[in-house]
Amino acid sequence: MDHRDTPGSELEKADSSIEPIPDPGLPEHQWRPTDVDAAAEKRAERQVASLFGASAVCTVLFLVGYFTLDIDDNWSVVAGFGASTIVLGVTLGLAMMLIGVGVIHWARKLMADHEMVEMRHPARSSDEDREQTIEALNDGLEESGIGRRPLIRNSLLGAVGLLGLPAIVVLRDLGPLPGDKLLSTIWGRGTADAPMRIVRDGIWTPILASDLEIGDLVNCQPDALKNPERYGIDPAEVEGIELQTQKAKASLILLRMDPRDIKPGKAADGSSRENWSVNGIVAYSKICTHVGCPISLNERTTHHLLCPCHQSTFDLADSGKVLFGPAGRPLPQLPLAVDDEGYLVAASDFDEPVGPSFWERDYYER
Ligand code: FES
Repeated sequence: MDHRDTPGSELEKADSSIEPIPDPGLPEHQWRPTDVDAAAEKRAERQVASLFGASAVCTVLFLVGYFTLDIDDNWSVVAGFGASTIVLGVTLGLAMMLIGVGVIHWARKLMADHEMVEMRHPARSSDEDREQTIEALNDGLEESGIGRRPLIRNSLLGAVGLLGLPAIVVLRDLGPLPGDKLLSTIWGRGTADAPMRIVRDGIWTPILASDLEIGDLVNCQPDALKNPERYGIDPAEVEGIELQTQKAKASLILLRMDPRDIKPGKAADGSSRENWSVNGIVAYSKICTHVGCPISLNERTTHHLLCPCHQSTFDLADSGKVLFGPAGRPLPQLPLAVDDEGYLVAASDFDEPVGPSFWERDYYER
């Protein structure tokens, strides 16, 4: 067969007869009111400056709110958020948003509005193109009118400059140092008449030592967080943010194992931990000593407890010793006892601070 009769040749013939589509060019330019009306231009300029000014006001309100609202006294104002949180979030959010809206308004209404055609070119620009780009950038700067419009320029500089202040003042939240607040927990507030009961986290029911089976693991809290008066504690000490603080420090896990598996170690004062368990039930802080994640992944047969954050592994049969991972200290153990009714109670507070290390840990006497 003659190759000129193949379908490919037919297509080539057809292709050569197709006329290229003409370049339609750019649509006719539509002038904006601000391009042709000096009053509209002036009005837009004032609108942009007002947006920047409103941003500056929000930043000032943020600073006022930061220094005047007490986070402890304004807990749970709306949907569980404190007044301080709401005011700081809203004012800082508005301050940033208003600058963004102002810049967009400025670009849409006042900056140069002409169509540009840019041809495709190799990935790396030639030196000539680079020079042209810099020139175009300079032209853009010139066309933005930032030099000619001191009102916009100054209000923008003021708003952006003020926005740096919140970033600086929130550094204040790195302090004050906790002092001796992290050295003890509410577990130590039990008395001889009312030893601190251990209750199930969430349902707040006390736990009979006889209720736990070997292998059971229970997340717990001190009863004082629910019934402070029973322990002579002012209810204000366990309200609002203070409740969250106490809860975080006191979170506990109970585990029952075969008593023969327990290897009692030494307490901080050198005495034995032999009496710190009840019928094979041991209690440890739930807060990882690495950076403070809550832990409760228990390997039942080995009594190993794994932290989900960075895999630190603690041996609950051996004084919470670190077996693996980045944690630098064992999990603090809580000495246990039972009260007259057979409920589990804390025999005392932890004998060392719970949670991650902190600078002053070794500088305070308990
Ligand atoms: S917080 Fe537990 S291992 Fe890092």
